[in-house]
Amino acid sequence: MAHNLLKGKKGIIFGALDEKSIAWSTALRCVEEGAEIVLTNAPIALRMGEINKLAELCKAPVIPADVTNMDDLKNLFTKSMEHFGGKIDFVLHSVGMSINMRKGKSYTDLDYDFSHKTFDISAMSLHRVLQTAYQLDALNEWASVVALTYIAAQRVFPDYSEMADAKSMLESISRSFGFHYGLKNKVRVNTISQSPTKTTAGGGVKGFDGFISYAEKMSPLGNATAQQCADYCVVMFSDMTRMVTMQNLFHDGGFSFTGVSAAVIEQMEK
Ligand SMILES: NC(=O)c1ccc[n+]([C@@H]2O[C@H](COP(=O)([O-])OP(=O)(O)OC[C@H]3O[C@@H](n4cnc5c(N)ncnc54)[C@H](O)[C@@H]3O)[C@@H](O)[C@H]2O)c1
Repeated sequence: MAHNLLKGKKGIIFGALDEKSIAWSTALRCVEEGAEIVLTNAPIALRMGEINKLAELCKAPVIPADVTNMDDLKNLFTKSMEHFGGKIDFVLHSVGMSINMRKGKSYTDLDYDFSHKTFDISAMSLHRVLQTAYQLDALNEWASVVALTYIAAQRVFPDYSEMADAKSMLESISRSFGFHYGLKNKVRVNTISQSPTKTTAGGGVKGFDGFISYAEKMSPLGNATAQQCADYCVVMFSDMTRMVTMQNLFHDGGFSFTGVSAAVIEQMEK
């Protein structure tokens, strides 16, 4: 059900690769709520993914940008403002990638060239996006920026490897830049910490299937889906959450504050 929560708002959505992507669901929900959007992803992902299908559904242009490339990001914000005929009201950063994980390298045997890439793509990119917008003065007052994160930033999930460190950095950048951008322009910056979700990035974590069912059993409300995450993003982009900034917001059905559940104990007693 749509409520016109984003009527008249204009946003950029990073990271829609295919139908499973959290960014895909979010793009559709934003448009349903009355927003106009620009879609972006890395050039290689545009070739491999299905973003053109989403672009048609959303009536949105696709502007390629590798989040580690400042020229790409400047071009993205400049072209988006030209397209909208004005500044931007919301940005979704839904980007993450670890080559160490992809190559099955454990946390105690990291390849540091790969790690540099992970930190750049998955964490520093948020700073790059915010700094580009800040210097181009591309965001309207009360604009809202959301980046997606995972609870491995606070607690150890061994197979999440160096992505845990990347997510800690991402959350820190969201707080630090949130302060500066709040002062300058009342721009809000938050992270949403999502339940494990079956997507291309999520599926890259070793033992993901067992892990997702563990999280389901630990969470009183169960795991949050990509569609539910999209709903939460819409609320965060709307004017209903104007005074929320510099926060890490758990969207995980209660997982983050649950010590143990009867369902998990039962499993252990088997
Ligand atoms: N799936 C989960 O279990 C889960 C849980 C919590 C948080 N998250 C986070 O949600 C976000 C979205 O992931 P997802 O699960 O929808 O998976 P996904 O694989 O669909 O999305 C990841 C996106 O990052 C993009 N990307 C990678 N390198 C890039 C680059 N250099 N430049 C631009 N884009 C690049 C990919 O093309 C892809 O579209 C990520 O930050 C992820 O860490 C996912």
